[in-house]
Amino acid sequence: MKLKKTLMPIVCILFASMACKEKQPEKIEDVAEEVRTEYYTEPYRPQFHFSPEENWMNDPNGLVYNDGVYHLFFQYYPEDIVWGPMHWGHAISSDMIHWAHKPIALFPDEHGLIFSGSAVLDEANTSGFGKEGNSPLVAIFTYHLMEGEKAGRTDFQTQGIAYSLDNGDTWTKYEGNPVIGNDGIKDFRDPKVFWNDKENVWTMLLVAGDHLQIWNSPDLKEWEKVSEFGKDQGAHGGVWECPDLFKLKVEGSEEEKWVLLISINPGAPNGGSGTQYFIGDFDGTTFTSDQKDNRWIDWGTDNYAGVTYNNVPGGDRIFIGWMSNWTYARDTPTEKWRSATTLPRKLALQKINGRYELINYPLSNLDKIITAGSKETVTIEGGANVEKTFENFNQSETKFLTSSKDFQITFKNKNDEQLILTSNGEKQLLRLDRSRSGKTDFQEDFGTTMQMPVTNLPNGEYEVRILIDRSSIEVFVNKGQYVMTAQIFPNEQYNTMEIKNTSQKSFELKDFGINLVKRIW
Ligand code: FRU
Repeated sequence: MKLKKTLMPIVCILFASMACKEKQPEKIEDVAEEVRTEYYTEPYRPQFHFSPEENWMNDPNGLVYNDGVYHLFFQYYPEDIVWGPMHWGHAISSDMIHWAHKPIALFPDEHGLIFSGSAVLDEANTSGFGKEGNSPLVAIFTYHLMEGEKAGRTDFQTQGIAYSLDNGDTWTKYEGNPVIGNDGIKDFRDPKVFWNDKENVWTMLLVAGDHLQIWNSPDLKEWEKVSEFGKDQGAHGGVWECPDLFKLKVEGSEEEKWVLLISINPGAPNGGSGTQYFIGDFDGTTFTSDQKDNRWIDWGTDNYAGVTYNNVPGGDRIFIGWMSNWTYARDTPTEKWRSATTLPRKLALQKINGRYELINYPLSNLDKIITAGSKETVTIEGGANVEKTFENFNQSETKFLTSSKDFQITFKNKNDEQLILTSNGEKQLLRLDRSRSGKTDFQEDFGTTMQMPVTNLPNGEYEVRILIDRSSIEVFVNKGQYVMTAQIFPNEQYNTMEIKNTSQKSFELKDFGINLVKRIW
């Protein structure tokens, strides 16, 4: 039995084209019911986040919903725990909380490795790949030709497509690939495609070094470039990657705005990789924004290359990021696999104090794996401390409401390793210090303190929610207005939390609770 479990992924990879059924549950929901106790228990293994069974992953790719299934494809190297020749790994879910692994979806071919991209349901069969009333899923990705790069050429990234007629189990590459060639742009990648109902065409966002290009197509095969954006707007500390563009209604109004996501590496506010966003308008061919400041979806160091789902029933906009940073992604201290995704988050737009804010907050589905404990009001006098213990903060949710902006929360373990979250009202800053949080010396830039300006909180009470899962912390302030995601590698589980009132006045934490988050594997 043990042997079978370890061999299975290898067998799946070898026989991927033969749709490796044995490992798949009958229904996706069966995965949730059948939580296995000896599986996914390695040190640092996320318990309620997606990570591959083994080997390296980076960006989420091809996020699409179809026929009861949320697909998660991802950049995957099946032979090592460092980046290598890229494939698209694959997992599926019915709730985006529990995942079932599937065989590799896309393998490198003569045009190159399979870099990041997206997937659509071609309902009207514009591509002609569909058969007998069966609408195809179409994946759109970047080919990266190593030989071209090694030869010092600049045209080694092109765009290709593939289709599936069995809801993502098997894929056929289009014989006319590549569908977009390259005339000398070194970084030309990460196609995000969506149906553009203003023009009745498919629209593709592509990044080209320091800017975004927008292309349109009637059939996913013939593409025409229609506009560009961003050469002189936004952050440019590094190359632009993984674009996304979608419309959101401003909550509580009829107003609609378009949001453009652009990941950049390096150049994020806390170092290395990060994802900026622009709020603006899209007329069907051109994106415009009069935004002057640089905005970030997440101020933590570990949320990169995030994009959103196509085709979600009801139209929700759901985002998943890669929970790492290129600065140290290859060095983190895990052995069997490397990297995980962020929790899936619902995006929303709010206007707070006259300013548009992009909100990202865990899906309400997460609540079904949280064992809600009791809630209390915690009163802390000016300058005083309160200590809370919990068997395992490394699989927990901490949540409370407060109107204070002056507190410090420290998670500690028996080794006195400390992870410290500090809110400073006067400076309008939230800091996350992981310099003594556990293992940090695997890379010189890991053990840092990151900070996030918190300058536009509405008056009054707001929520602080902290989710810790073995090797990550996600902090959501005011239900996702301000967010920090970071990896951590404590040598022991944290079991004590110290909450300090750093002001002179007493404050209350209302509805305070520490809850266990159940494992999903
Ligand atoms: C982002 C990225 C993409 C690229 C992929 C390669 O993390 O660099 O731009 O397609 O990773 O794995």
